Amino acid sequence: MKIVVLTGSPHLKGTTSVLADEFVAAAQKAGHEVVRFDTAQMQIHPCTGCDQCKKVEETCIFKDDMLQVYPKMKEAEVVVFVSPLYYFGVTAQLKSAIDRFYAINLKLRENPTKAYLLAAGADVDDWAMDGITAHMKTMCRYLNWDYQEGVLALGAGVPEDLENTDYPRQARELGTHLS
Ligand SMILES: Cc1cc2nc3c(=O)[nH]c(=O)nc-3n(C[C@H](O)[C@H](O)[C@H](O)COP(=O)(O)O)c2cc1C
Repeated sequence: MKIVVLTGSPHLKGTTSVLADEFVAAAQKAGHEVVRFDTAQMQIHPCTGCDQCKKVEETCIFKDDMLQVYPKMKEAEVVVFVSPLYYFGVTAQLKSAIDRFYAINLKLRENPTKAYLLAAGADVDDWAMDGITAHMKTMCRYLNWDYQEGVLALGAGVPEDLENTDYPRQARELGTHLS
């Protein structure tokens, strides 16, 4: 399957990168084609709502690193969003990439896609993932994508917090058993 992984953390060796690395390695081992974009390391201008892309289809005024992302998104069968909780949502960097989907909105809605979320946060409250999962579910519903449960790591403020937890295995399993 063609898989796009969009990460949102500015930490290259952070908590969520452990989950992303486990997932990507397992998915590649299982024979999937995985493309990973670390959005916090890329030049991605936030959408300004100029609506140029609605006047001339698929023409965003910003000619930045989203130009690499768009073709992969259009053919993705699986999209995996990876983000630390930032005030109970995704990071601004990942949100900027998501908002820029606007330029290819129609294509994305027509493309049957499965979506997963790999998230981590320092909080241990059972409601800590409510906001981010509600957003993902709602966005996927709008996009006609099939949102599936991913990995939601609570009590994970630093990578070491994942040691002796089941979360890395869950990310690995997800990559191994994608269908
Ligand atoms: C700006 C900021 C906001 C955060 N907001 C939350 C939050 O709302 N809930 C939470 O549980 N953790 C929050 N955290 C903690 C991070 O989610 C946590 O440290 C995570 O492990 C960082 O992952 P990373 O190393 O992959 O970036 C926040 C951290 C920062 C820097």
